[in-house]
Amino acid sequence: MKGYKQVIAERYDGREAQATAAPSRYGLLASTGWYLYARTREAFATAARHMQGQGLDWRQARVVDLGCGGGAMLRFVAELTGDPGRVRGVELSQHRLAAAQRMHPGIAVQSGDLLDLPAAEQPDDVAMAWTVLMHLPTRAELDQAVRGIAASLPPGGWFLWYDTVAADHFQTRPDDEGAGFSLDQFRDIGTGAGLRLEQCLPVLKNVLWRWNSGYLPERGWPAWAVRAAEALLPGTPASALCLFRKPPLP
Ligand SMILES: C[S@@+](CC[C@H](N)C(=O)[O-])C[C@H]1O[C@@H](n2cnc3c(N)ncnc32)[C@H](O)[C@@H]1O
Repeated sequence: MKGYKQVIAERYDGREAQATAAPSRYGLLASTGWYLYARTREAFATAARHMQGQGLDWRQARVVDLGCGGGAMLRFVAELTGDPGRVRGVELSQHRLAAAQRMHPGIAVQSGDLLDLPAAEQPDDVAMAWTVLMHLPTRAELDQAVRGIAASLPPGGWFLWYDTVAADHFQTRPDDEGAGFSLDQFRDIGTGAGLRLEQCLPVLKNVLWRWNSGYLPERGWPAWAVRAAEALLPGTPASALCLFRKPPLP
């Protein structure tokens, strides 16, 4: 798998930056983009309720979105906290950073690398990474990133990790730009950094082990049919949101 700096240079600051006018399959006007947005939002809301049930007060919480990209998740978090001033983003691609700043002028978005996190003025109660860790090819980089996140959290702080699910993150082709994780790999990397796994929520599904439900809308499936297929047909998780917690002080 390619290194993350190469992917950022070639993809996010490269072909994506050069093709800003072209419609993207992940844009909100595309059927797949809209479906992914809706499912991600739902998964986030489910996780947010769980954390609230464990005592997190979203109206006081500070939240950082690591690898925030163009800022899709920043919008949800700002709604939930009710105060964009307690939300920040960190992003390494300059093109994506500028897009996030344009979309959310009231939210601080800093340039930064997940492997060498810029220090926060105040600790964040919640750190999240949505389809970002998938870009780190080696176990050493993943351990460094997740240990850094764990170290930055206060006791009792939360880490939300969303990524695609795959058989093995480390078995990829050299030209792959990212790869998912097995549920065991999510758990091992998070707990190896001293975090406690609270739950892993399956989100998208490989329907009949073959079709990732997130991409069925662009094959002409209406959203209701995709949801029915996810609920009724067998298959395996295609993506998961894993909630980790730094153990509270005794
Ligand atoms: C698939 S996009 C996801 C963006 C965003 N999290 C979302 O869900 O819309 C992956 C993002 O991670 C960023 N990224 C990759 N490696 C990074 C790193 N080491 N530090 C900071 N950002 C990184 C990329 O530049 C890109 O914006």
